[in-house]
Parts: sequence; structure tokens; C-alpha cells
Amino acid sequence: MQRALGVCYYPEHWDEAVWAEDAARMAAAGLTYVRIGEFAWSRMEPQPGQYDFGWLDRAIAVLGAAGLKVVLGTPTATPPRWMLDRHPDMLAVDADGRLRKFGSRRHYCFAHKGYIAECVRITEALARRYGANPAVAAWQTDNEYGCHDTTYSYGPSALAGFRDWLAQKYQSPDALNAAWGNVFWSMEYREFDEIELPNLTVTEANPAHHLDFRRFASDQVVAFNAAQVRAIRAHSSAPILHNYMGRIVEFDHWDVGADLDIATWDSYPLGFLEDRSDEGESWKARFSQQGDPDFQAFHHDLYRAVGRGRMWIMEQQPGPVNWAPWNPAPLPGMVRLWSWEAFAHGAEVVSYFRWRQAPFAQEQMHSGLLRPDSAAAPGLAEARQVANELAAMPDCAPAVARVALVFDYESAWAWTIQPQGRDFDYFRLVFDTYRALRRLGLSVDILPPDCADLSAYKLVLAPGLMRLRDNLRAALARFNGLALFGPRAGAKTADMAIPASLPPDIPGVTQRISRVESLRPGATRALPEGAFLRWFEHLDGAGSVHLATQGGAPALVGEGNMRYLAGWPDAVAFRAILGELCVQAGLETHDLPEGVRLRDTASHRFFFNYTTAPVQVLGQSLPPAGVLWQAL
Ligand code: GAL
Repeated sequence: MQRALGVCYYPEHWDEAVWAEDAARMAAAGLTYVRIGEFAWSRMEPQPGQYDFGWLDRAIAVLGAAGLKVVLGTPTATPPRWMLDRHPDMLAVDADGRLRKFGSRRHYCFAHKGYIAECVRITEALARRYGANPAVAAWQTDNEYGCHDTTYSYGPSALAGFRDWLAQKYQSPDALNAAWGNVFWSMEYREFDEIELPNLTVTEANPAHHLDFRRFASDQVVAFNAAQVRAIRAHSSAPILHNYMGRIVEFDHWDVGADLDIATWDSYPLGFLEDRSDEGESWKARFSQQGDPDFQAFHHDLYRAVGRGRMWIMEQQPGPVNWAPWNPAPLPGMVRLWSWEAFAHGAEVVSYFRWRQAPFAQEQMHSGLLRPDSAAAPGLAEARQVANELAAMPDCAPAVARVALVFDYESAWAWTIQPQGRDFDYFRLVFDTYRALRRLGLSVDILPPDCADLSAYKLVLAPGLMRLRDNLRAALARFNGLALFGPRAGAKTADMAIPASLPPDIPGVTQRISRVESLRPGATRALPEGAFLRWFEHLDGAGSVHLATQGGAPALVGEGNMRYLAGWPDAVAFRAILGELCVQAGLETHDLPEGVRLRDTASHRFFFNYTTAPVQVLGQSLPPAGVLWQAL
């Protein structure tokens, strides 16, 4: 398996005179890949239909001559201003009905047929021109689908597309009315054309209406991406990838990934800690220069699965970013740590964003490997160190883990639509579970909700999985390890209704949920060790009870190798419950120092110190931001 470094570069931002020197410096720093092009539409096609690829020909030639491999991006995240003259209605509309205007990026509606045709046209022009170019080693479609809240649009193209989508799915308005339960509040429709998008209703719209809208919107992202993939594949055999983001759940990444060769993602540990973490102030203060110790790993594992084993970091934070509420510098050593952690989780390439800090426009305060004056920024030396270490290090290909965690985008939509408690969030529930597993020193695989084979695993967890797909049901019937579902699993039908026989609709669970409670901050249901917070389900009926609350209510139930958890555990309860399940499943756990994480590959065990103090690991002192590996 290859392991290499790369960088994101914008030749159109710089005088052509510096390209050759930039390329030579990249190669000298040990970088192999260079991604270009993804925002350059106004230079590729300055006027509608008038292409100018001369500069791109020369840029690719210069980079290729330095031995670099080019990842060429399609520029469809930044349609030029003239595009609006051709398609005035292509802009997205937000849930409040406001137009999302030109002047930054991602200003398009995924359902706009005219814009999709323009994207196919420019993609085809690029693929024809560069599809056989030996310097072009891979293609990136668009840039960060869903970033800046762009999955959903509530404009005319989305409305027309949604009605078509519903007509195809249900065939008759009566079938839709029955599935959604539209007799409630006299919401029954006579024609598909009477159905609106689920925004701007007086009070909440029907959750089934919302869920279908989210499925529709996700399908638009899939189709948008697939159209570009087809255009590229017609002219190139190089792998095609997309750069996903951290904690974006609005579209189904499993579905998009099915059309791509590699899943990549953009890892900004410090930005994400400030911008996307649910943890409190003291946690953020503690990790402000290191990032959350589990956030990157979670996404590495998620996207390794989305890429069916092939994962890259397309953009790695190299220094302070500009977009979080606070933007500190990484602790010395963290750029190296993040890079090695990605490799330990199976990354083939870690590519830094960006080569040189731009002195102009929106990201002028965002660091690069070089300062705006071309002097080296601190990240460059760490990248160079990683390059040297990679050259000296034997392969560390990923191994199949023994523990797996199911991640399901539809469940994320369902619980966003109907949280029932203000702080019930699907991503957070799965991520808390992942963190608890990592604190026990476990390496984890992430699985899709329709996973058909669990045979590699000793323990499989599916918190919050709204419904079980047939494949997973069949796989569970053959499964010999332990499976833990809940809380809030098997809780809805595909139509977002409560199952007729009451939840949980999970094999091997005989009790029924007779009522659920969401718990305000500070309210808990105490367990022998720790407590449930946020969510608690009352389980009635006969069946085995493996753990009860201090009040005597069932907390963990299930027959045979199936277990169901009736609430959202705090960290102490997670440790106790998962620790015990690991013992039963025959899984070895590890007592790691606080803030230290472990990851096993096929050949090595890695330790990462996310703290600001040295820690003792394997009888050695691991410095702050330190990485240690040991052959297995
Ligand atoms: C990413 C994006 C890049 C750049 C970067 C800044 O989300 O793909 O184009 O904006 O953030 O951190």
C-alpha cells in the first residue's frame, strides 16, 4: 500500500514565474501529490463557451516535470458570475425562503438541471483534455459537498424535483397519504403537485414529509456527483475521489461513495474542536492546540469504510485556520501527529491545505506550508519530517478491527427531524460510543447500515439506528459475536412511524418500550456505575435483564448474543458497560493514560499523545504531541 504526502495548490493565485520554484520546493519537501483546479472555473472558462486551458496545460506540465502527481479538481463548487446570467434560478434558497447569493462559493442548487448540464460540460472538457495526461494521477469531483449548509435548497428546482421523486416512489397520492399518515391534521393530498417542500409551515411539518425530503436531497447529491464521474470515466482511467468534511450528515456518504474509487476528507482538528465539538469549555481549552483526540480518528474510520478501504486526507490543517471562533496554532508536533494518525488509520495520502498562504480574499488569515512571502511556515518542517519517517518506515496497512460501529445517515436525519429532547443528536450518540471504545484502547471499524457480513467482529454496536435493514438482520442471524443496539434503535419504520409491535424492533429483544423520556441537562437516571443522561426508555415485559438502574428499571436487556441499551450512558457508565461486554466478547482492553490513544494496524501498534504533558507508554516517555509505534 502506498503512503505519501501531498499539498493543495492554486497556480491561478500566483505569478507563473514562481510555479517551477514552487514545484521544486514541494518535491524537495518530500511531497508527492498536488491537488489543483477545484475553484478555477473563471480562469478555465472566462466567458461562456470560451475555454482557456493554456495556463492549466502549463501548470500541469511544470508540476509533472518536477515529478509531482496531479489531482485535478472539477471546478463546480465555484460557478463564475456569468453562470447566473444563463441560469438565474440556479441559486439555492434557504429554509427561510432567502436566496443564497453569489460572492463566495457553493452557490448552487443540487437539483438544478441546467446547472448539472453545465457541470457535466466543463467536466467533460477537462476529462477530454487531461484524461490521458500522465501527470494527472487522480480526479476530485467538486469540493466538500454539503459544506456551508448547502445540501438543502428550498427553491423551484428542488420543489419540482421533489414532486417527481415522490411520484416515482409512491406512484399514487393515496399511497403517499397512507405512508405519511396524512389523515392527521387533514394533510391529505389529491395530486403530487399539491405537495410543497417542508419549510415555512405554520408549525412543524409531518416528520415523514421531512424524512422523504432529506432522502430526496441526498439523492440529488448522489446524482450530481455521479454525472461528473460518468463524464470523467469516459476519458480517464485514473481514480476519482471527493473530499468530504467532518461532521456533515445531511447527505448519505455511503451512496455518494459507491460511485467513487477513493473517499478523502478534509481534516481541520483545531477548527473542528472550536466549531463542531459538543464538549464543554474546559475540554476545548484543554485540547485547543491539539484537537479532539477522537474526532479525526472517527472520520478516518468512517471514510475508510465509505471508500471501501481506500481513504486519503485531501486537506490537512498545517497551522492556524481562519474560520473557527478561535484559531490557535497547533502545538509543535501536532501536524506530524495528525499525519501519522491518518496513516495509522489507513490513509494512503495526507495532503496539506495549502501550499502558500494567500495574502488576499477570504482566506488570507489561513496558514499554509509557506507564509505569504514564501518563507517556510512551521508546518513545512513537520511535513518534511513525516516524509523522512515514511521513507524509513515499513508498511503499516490497516487491519480489520474486532469491534465495529454502525453509522447511518438516515438515522441522523430522523433524529434531527424528531429529536424529542433538545440535545438528542445522532452523530453525538455514535461519537460518544466511539470515544468510549477508544478510551478502552480498542481499534474500531465503521460499517454501513446495510452491512451484510459481520463475521470478522467480536462486538458490533448500533446506537440510535432507527431501523434495521434486511441485510443487517440477515447478518445478525449468522453472527457469533455480541451485538449491542440502542438507545433509540429499531424505533421507527421506513415511513418514520412507530412499529406496530412497539420498539425496539430488534431480534433477540423480547421486552417492549412502553414510554421514552428525554432528560434535560443535569437530569439523570442513576446506574450502579455512572448514569444515563439525555435519554431513557422504559422496557416492559419478560426477558433477561443484564443491568438495572438504581431505581430497578431494566437498563441492559437481550437474549442470546443480542443486547439492548435503554439509555444514553455518561462516560463512566460507558466504560463499565462496554468494558463488561468486551470481557464477554473476549476482547482485550487497555488502560491508557488520559488523552492518549492507541491504534493497531496489521503490523504496528501506534500511540498518540494528545495532551500537553509527557506520559509514560511502554516504559518510555512520550512527549506532548508525541507519536510512538511498536511492531506487533
Ligand atoms: C476547506 C475547503 C478549502 C478551504 C479550507 C480552509 O473546508 O475545502 O477550500 O476553504 O477549508 O480551511
